[in-house]
Amino acid sequence: MVKKGRKSPQDESHRISTTDDIEVSTYLEIAKEIGGEQPTVTEEAVSGAKREAIIVLDFGSQYNLLIARRVRESQVYCELLPHDTPWEKIAPLNPRGFILSGGPASVYAQNAPLAPSYVYESGLPVLGICYGMQVITKQLGGQVKPGTKREYGHAVMHISQVDSPLFAGLPESTPVWMSHGDKIDELPPDFVSLAYTENSPNAVIGDGKGIFGLQFHPEVVHTPEGKTILKNFIYRVCGCQGNWTIGNFVNESIQRIREQVGDGSVINALSGGVDSSVVATLIHRAIGDQLTCIFVNNGLLRREEADRTLKVFKNNLGMNIVYKDATDRFLDRLKGVVDPEEKRKIIGEEFIRVFEEEAKRIGKVDFLAQGTLYPDVIESVSSVSTASAKIKSHHNVGGLPAKMVLTLLEPLRYLFKDEVRLVGKELGLPEEMVWRQPFPGPGLAIRCIGEVTREKLEILRSADFILMNEIKKAKMYNQLWQSFCVLTDVRSVGVMGDYRTYGYLAAVRAVTSDDAMTADWARLPYDLLARISNRIVNEVDGVNRVVYDITSKPPSTIEWE
Ligand code: XMP
Repeated sequence: MVKKGRKSPQDESHRISTTDDIEVSTYLEIAKEIGGEQPTVTEEAVSGAKREAIIVLDFGSQYNLLIARRVRESQVYCELLPHDTPWEKIAPLNPRGFILSGGPASVYAQNAPLAPSYVYESGLPVLGICYGMQVITKQLGGQVKPGTKREYGHAVMHISQVDSPLFAGLPESTPVWMSHGDKIDELPPDFVSLAYTENSPNAVIGDGKGIFGLQFHPEVVHTPEGKTILKNFIYRVCGCQGNWTIGNFVNESIQRIREQVGDGSVINALSGGVDSSVVATLIHRAIGDQLTCIFVNNGLLRREEADRTLKVFKNNLGMNIVYKDATDRFLDRLKGVVDPEEKRKIIGEEFIRVFEEEAKRIGKVDFLAQGTLYPDVIESVSSVSTASAKIKSHHNVGGLPAKMVLTLLEPLRYLFKDEVRLVGKELGLPEEMVWRQPFPGPGLAIRCIGEVTREKLEILRSADFILMNEIKKAKMYNQLWQSFCVLTDVRSVGVMGDYRTYGYLAAVRAVTSDDAMTADWARLPYDLLARISNRIVNEVDGVNRVVYDITSKPPSTIEWE
């Protein structure tokens, strides 16, 4: 049993010393191999406002990133870290409280992951969620037993201790989302039950001194008051101030980029997508002409995309841009290639070559900027999550010049996608850029089924242009995660006027999603689908049939290749 080192939730005297200084974490990682060559890269991350933080210790639940998001939405900085992270890595973040996440393990199993002793000895408040609650129970001297039946799904929580700070503003009964097998058989000393459900007498437990456990998941939307419970924990129990705002993030990032870069020079691969656009704008705001963006046109972009991107960044924002039209090189290498993975590999490799050539022309370069986001960081450090099978290799833009030692500048590495959009907005990027739907690095090549030819690309561009035009006119663009056309390799017979046609089959894909991990096909209105289909068949030479993709992810993926 671990000893608790606390008097009351806000008692400062028992805290292991933390610092209010904002620390720049340094990492050394070898960049992911993209294509053949393996560059050597040193990385010094640029972090944002970290004056106070809630630390989520990761025990492997699929909902963990959501917990961090919910805390950030409450304007408190939050990091999701492996459950066995040493205190030395946590102290500089100035933690105000811990959340122990859910997870797939069972605390009575051999080698079950547990919380480090500093969690209890620090005197900081702790909130255990699901498995996290069982960890607290076990480590503080209670008993966890396998439940006779698994409780999964909706339940109604009834509050028995209404004056608990965790329940401020909550009705006495509220729906919660359960997902657990094990149950608490005996509470640890000092703990009492604060709320119950039909199957769980201990739906919420607490020790009256800042340690709480929830048997349900407050982070999912199926627990409608979950956000209030988390907010109560963050503000009423941990005493956070709420200084995580986008304005603060922008100001502090600019300051930090200036300090880190000094009079060095930075290159950035600009793609016109949200992440690379926001990175470029933020760094440009900080160091102006010390930044050069390299924009490689791979010939696989949507219609008017290259011009639009150049216009915004070169003309409107006045950035140094090296524009390289490498269409011929990419299309030559793609000749005769039909395998999706092969296409991706070729495009990734070719991108690195072109980027490297252009970077060499610039001369001395010290830093490479990248639009790495928090979910990418988590994916690479999570201690519990097991490696998942490779479905598709993603060649994100941002290839690294081989054989050059560059320091990575990743000012967005602590942000979620929606926060990146807010940063873009704060920096004054045009709305249409900030709310742009994601576009894959390999571009239209993975939406052109079979061999990629100039002729097929032009047909696809024309159909896609009509689709996007109609989606925007119907004011649906921002509601959709992605919408695009796919040109299949299937041809079918049709009739136009008095003539028989034999043309391509085009598919329309439109999905809703929060994070691209899962997606649902969008229920577009029939009238809109009819307009899209009519216009494509009438205006695009070579297409005589349009179908709408009504599969969700899983089992499909968003892109067709
Ligand atoms: P899938 O097709 O796997 O796609 O459901 C999930 C999300 O990722 C995008 N995607 C890519 N993005 N490089 C990228 O930068 C890629 O190679 C790539 N492949 C897919 C896709 O558009 C969707 O948003």
